[in-house]
Amino acid sequence: MKPVESIYLHFPFCRHRCNYCDFFKQVPEDKDQSFTSFESQFLESFDVHKKFLADYDYQFMPLKTLYIGGGTPSLWGSRGAEFLADLFAKEGVTFDKDCEFTLEVNPGTWTEESLQSWIDIGVNRFSLGVQSLDSRFMKALDRVHSLNDALNTIEFFSQKKWNYSVDFMLGLPYSVEWNRDIEKELNEILKFSPNHLSLYILTVKENYPHFDKLPDDEFISREYLKVSDILASKGMHHYEVSNFSKPGLESKHNLRYWESLTVGAIGPSATGFLFEDKIRYKWKTKSSEFETEVLTEEEYQLEKVYMKLRTNLLLDSKELDIDDEILRKWSELSYIKHVSTAKFQVTSQGFLMLDSMMGDLFKE
Ligand SMILES: C[S@@+](CC[C@H](N)C(=O)[O-])C[C@H]1O[C@@H](n2cnc3c(N)ncnc32)[C@H](O)[C@@H]1O
Repeated sequence: MKPVESIYLHFPFCRHRCNYCDFFKQVPEDKDQSFTSFESQFLESFDVHKKFLADYDYQFMPLKTLYIGGGTPSLWGSRGAEFLADLFAKEGVTFDKDCEFTLEVNPGTWTEESLQSWIDIGVNRFSLGVQSLDSRFMKALDRVHSLNDALNTIEFFSQKKWNYSVDFMLGLPYSVEWNRDIEKELNEILKFSPNHLSLYILTVKENYPHFDKLPDDEFISREYLKVSDILASKGMHHYEVSNFSKPGLESKHNLRYWESLTVGAIGPSATGFLFEDKIRYKWKTKSSEFETEVLTEEEYQLEKVYMKLRTNLLLDSKELDIDDEILRKWSELSYIKHVSTAKFQVTSQGFLMLDSMMGDLFKE
C-alpha cells in the first residue's frame, strides 16, 4: 500500500466574485440549498476518490497535512466543520499528532463561534485573504469586505495567538497612478507579527477590467524585491517564490507540492498528485468525475527541478547535474547564493527569473 498523508479540499463558494480571481467558485443565492447540494456531491466524490486510490493501491494514512481552500471555506461555518468531522469519523480518516490543518478565512465571513468549531475538529492554521490594506486598492480589486473588517480579522487572530498566514498581493492596477505605499500596508500587517505571509503578483487575463492600469514588469520586480527586503529585515524567510515565514513555520502542506510528493484532492477543480505512479488528476466542476494525466519520467524530472528552483531548499549541483558555467552565471547575476560546497540556494532575485533559469538548464 502506498500512503496518502496530505489532502486538499476545495470549497467552491464566495460571498462575492472579485474581478481578478480565476479560482473556481460560485456565489450562492440560497446558502442552505447550495451547501446541501455541494455536500452531497462531495460525498459522492469522496467515494469515487476512495475507489480510485484503492485501484492504484493507495490508502489514507494519519494525515500530516490537510488544507481547505476555496472559494471562501470560512463561509461554510460550523456546518462545514460538523460535516467534515462526521465524514472523517465514518471513513476512518485520522490525523497525525503534528498534522498541519489549514482553513482559508476571509474577513467578514467568520464568527468566533464558527472558528471555534473548526478548531474543535483540528484546524490549527488559518490563511487570511487580505490582499491589500488600502481601501482604494481594495475597491479596485472589487473586495467585498471593508478595511475595518480586514484589520479586525488580523487583530482578532493575533490576540488569540492563533497560527495564521496573511495573503497579500502586489502588481495591483493603479499602483503607479495612486502611488501605492506598499511598505505602509505591509508594516500595518507586520505590527501583528503573523507567522507566515503569502505574497502573490496579480496575474490576470486580457479581459481584466483594469488591464491597462497594471504596472509594468520593471515596477513589479522592484516592488517584489522591496517587499522581500522588508520581510527579510523582520526575520521572515523567503522560502518559496510567493511565501515567507518565521523560521520553522513554513507551510508543510505547500512544501509537499513543491517537493512533488503525494497530495490527495477532492472538490470541484481541485488537483491531486500520486507520486509513486506520477498521476496528476483534476476534478471537474459540475460532476464527481476527474481527469487524469500520467507524467512521463522526463516530464516529472523537469517539474521536480522547476518546483525545487521555486523554493530555497538547498540545490545540490551534483544531484541536479548543473553545469559549472551556468552556476557561475547565476551567481554573478545573484540568482543563487553559495551555501556550502556544491550547495546553492535561489535568492529573491532568482525567484523572479525562474523561466530564464529553466531556459539555461534545458536549452534544447
Ligand atoms: C484560493 S485564493 C483565496 C481566495 C480568498 N477567498 C480571498 O478572497 O481572499 C488564494 C489566494 O490566491 C491569491 N490570488 C487569487 N487570485 C489571484 C490572481 N488573479 N493573481 C494572483 N494571486 C491571486 C490571493 O492572494 C488569494 O488569497
